[in-house]
Amino acid sequence: MSNRLNATPNDLRAFWMPFTANRQFKKEPRLFVKAKDMHYTTHDGRTVLDGTAGLWCVNAGHCRPLITEAIAQQAGELDYAPAFQLGHPKAFELASRLVDIAPEGMNHVLYTNSGSESVDTALKVALAYHRVKGDGSRTRLIGRERGYHGVNFGGISVGGIVSNRKMFGTLLTGVDHMPHTHQPDKNAFTKGEPEHGGDIATELERIVTLHDASTIAAVIVEPVAGSTGVLIPPKGYLQKLRDICTKHGILLIFDEVITGYGRLGTPFAAQYFDVMPDMIVTAKGLTNGVIPMGAVFVTSAIHDAFMSGPEHMIEFFHGYTYSGNPIASAAALATLDTYRDEGLLTRAATLAPYWEKALHSLADCPHVIDIRNIGLIGAIELSPISGEPTKRAFSAFLKAYESGFLIRTTGDIIALSPPLIISEAQIDELVAGIRTVLQSNI
Ligand SMILES: Cc1ncc(COP(=O)(O)O)c(C=O)c1O
Repeated sequence: MSNRLNATPNDLRAFWMPFTANRQFKKEPRLFVKAKDMHYTTHDGRTVLDGTAGLWCVNAGHCRPLITEAIAQQAGELDYAPAFQLGHPKAFELASRLVDIAPEGMNHVLYTNSGSESVDTALKVALAYHRVKGDGSRTRLIGRERGYHGVNFGGISVGGIVSNRKMFGTLLTGVDHMPHTHQPDKNAFTKGEPEHGGDIATELERIVTLHDASTIAAVIVEPVAGSTGVLIPPKGYLQKLRDICTKHGILLIFDEVITGYGRLGTPFAAQYFDVMPDMIVTAKGLTNGVIPMGAVFVTSAIHDAFMSGPEHMIEFFHGYTYSGNPIASAAALATLDTYRDEGLLTRAATLAPYWEKALHSLADCPHVIDIRNIGLIGAIELSPISGEPTKRAFSAFLKAYESGFLIRTTGDIIALSPPLIISEAQIDELVAGIRTVLQSNI
């Protein structure tokens, strides 16, 4: 017997949507039915300019021909190959291509299906690395307040966003958090990296003193924190973290799920800030958001530490049914081709000055208490409505959507990260649209 709830083709009830106000959405649905380059088309036939690259992932814009053709071709040629003890050529080709654009020394890649899985993979590599090196007492993981590292248990344990943690019990044990770097009292309306706050990195020394370095496996941070509302690292901060980790034999993991694949005008943020971590966690832009796939980059030192013991033995007991899936690999290769052919991994560097000027022109709009930017990322922080946090930004989101602009909000912050193909005229259009929304009754 069917237990369907009188389902109709457009019934919205069965799908419990992620990170969504489900009841509000289902009263006023917002559905996209088509997309091309910089635009979505809604179910009611309107065009929406994409100010967020979907969810920070569609870096090359929508429905790009090389990618859609590669997926169709691969699906007809080799749909699936087992990922364990077997392989297929494109997963290897992709890993080599990825290593080519990664910072020097990041010579090996583990595949996953999402940012959350990439984070948990990197944390597991860190713990196992110390163990295979005979340093198995290094079991602690250090994250940061306001950090977002996806939604799996490892990621929410090292993450620092209260709503993502508080419902889920005690999480991983042995985790500590550094303070975040956001200092609006000193740094509001900074263009690029803030002057103040680099020394906050020394809080890591305090944590090391508290627990002893011999118990700490890894520190994980987003070079630019995205989902918590775009927190840009103060000058010198990341290098200081690197120095402290090196001094104490702690691995440094950069979560580049948002910053990877050109968002700052370099392939990875590690290159932008010229700070070399031990692992880089990526997903999203790897396949232009089209097919779920993530990749974790590790140094040769980490990889090689596992390559001992009898050769018939599995070296690392970890992996996913879909690690390096053929269709995802084909999509990622075509994405890298698109990035290369159109210069997209560095285009944000060219656009950044125009983007910065356009964004900061909103400083005089009502409710704006801070604007920050780096590469092709921007944030406009609004004063909350008294007693109703998040409501002002959410109503800005709804109004923007109605008027044909996709923005993203987190708390009372509008976060922007358009596809890297955006034109200067489209930046003007986006900023003008946001100005109108901010000047309306929100
Ligand atoms: C920095 C960071 N890490 C991890 C994730 C999780 O990625 P996913 O949603 O693909 O699991 C995100 C997603 O926004 C992210 O921004």
